[in-house]
Order: sequence, then structure tokens, then C-alpha cells
Amino acid sequence: MTQIIVALDVDTIRREEELLKSLKDLIVWYKVGLRLFTAHGKRAVDLVHKSGGKVFLDLKLHDIPQTVAHAVQEAQRLGVEAVSLHLMGGADMVRAAAEVTPRPKLWGVTVLTSMAPKDVKIFHPEARLPALAKSLAKTGWTAGADATICSPREVAWLRRQLPDLGLKFVTPGIRPRGADLNDQSRVMTPGEAAALGIDYVVIGRPITHAPDPRKAALSILSEMKAAAPGALDFASAAARRKE
Ligand code: C5P
Repeated sequence: MTQIIVALDVDTIRREEELLKSLKDLIVWYKVGLRLFTAHGKRAVDLVHKSGGKVFLDLKLHDIPQTVAHAVQEAQRLGVEAVSLHLMGGADMVRAAAEVTPRPKLWGVTVLTSMAPKDVKIFHPEARLPALAKSLAKTGWTAGADATICSPREVAWLRRQLPDLGLKFVTPGIRPRGADLNDQSRVMTPGEAAALGIDYVVIGRPITHAPDPRKAALSILSEMKAAAPGALDFASAAARRKE
């Protein structure tokens, strides 16, 4: 079942409240990222919880193992349901984070989609981008990460390359057909992502910048439902909130 995570890439609590209000009972998951968290911290997280939603805290942790494990402990205290980390931090770092109990889900970034082969070559002259993404996905999963964050265009390839792992995926870069791409380039439509069975899709501007965010979310949800009947049931959003 594909679930939408709405990226709350806004800078004010007021705007966050408006979005939460308009998407209530439709969307369960919300991403609180660097901007909102740096500006408003715990308050931004608490607002989502107060409206009945779940929080993906997208801080992309990357530090020595003990520091990351401590940050994961704090994320658990905040009550968030998932937190992201950079798999480039290494297996020991992911393992230390995974050993925190209880803890939120750990979602690992392979290679930022903003990085080009030339950027990777600077620190690893032999590395090819897809091979690097594959080995990071494998290392992260083996060390205890719960899902891989990558481009939706990499999902089928990674599944073929690592068929035995049963990887789960979280993907940004989702755009309804004909929508403004903004700064995304290798995108996939919500329907394609649902048909592929991607676990979570992170969608920001197509919903948050729409004149009517609720209408935009409803249209995306019905596109996903049509593409993968049974894979998504937005009528049971309230039930899912209690998972
Ligand atoms: O507005 P849009 O749908 O492009 O938002 C996508 C969200 O996913 C943003 O919060 C962005 O920071 C995040 N993201 C991304 N590409 C990545 C990793 C995260 O777009 N590779």
C-alpha cells in the first residue's frame, strides 16, 4: 500500500496549521524537514500529532555513531514515527541508530538526487552512481535501516539488483502528469509510483502550492487508487492513523 507523505516545506506555524486543517482525515503522514524544524522545532512536530497525523522528521542525520544514536533517542522523545539519516555515514552509524530502543523508523538516503556523477567522483574516483546507490542501500538495510530514500526511477532497478532483501522505499520526485516540475528532474507520476508499490511517496509543492491543497491531494489519491486498485484506501485514513 502506497502512502502519501505531504512535505510541510513552509516557514510559518500558521501555514503549517492551514495545511494540516485542509488535509485532515485525508493524509496521515507529514514530513517536517530542515526548514520547519530549524525555525519552529518541537512545536512544528506537536502540531502534526495534535491533528492526528504521523511525522517523518527529515533531518538526514550524518555524524559519528554515538551522536546519531543520541539524536534518534531525542527523535523518539519527540514522538516522531520516522527519521532520516545519510547512509554515507556508514554501517556502524546506521547500526548504532538501529540499536536505540524504542525508536522511530529509520529511513536512509543513498545518494542525494541533486548529486551528479562529477560530485561523486571527487570523493570516490572509481565509483559509478548507480553502483554506489546499490551498495549504500544494501549496507543500510543490512545494518538495520527500515527503508531506502531514493529517486522513484531507481526503485525497480534496486529491486532487481537486490532481489532477496525485500527493500522498502520512500521516494520524493513525484509529479502528476502535466504538473510543474519545479526543480525536480527525474520524476514519476503518483499513479506510476502506486503501481510500482512504492511504500511512501513524499509530495510537496503539487499539494502545498496548489490553490486548493485538499482538492489536489484528492486528485492525486484517486489517480493512485486507479493505478493500483486495492493498493491504497484513503477512506481508511483514520484507521491507519491508529497503526
Ligand atoms: O515539493 P516537492 O514535491 O518537490 O517536495 C519533495 C520533498 O522531498 C522536499 O521536501 C524535498 O526536500 C524532499 N527531497 C527531494 N529530493 C531528494 C530528497 C528529498 O525532493 N532527493
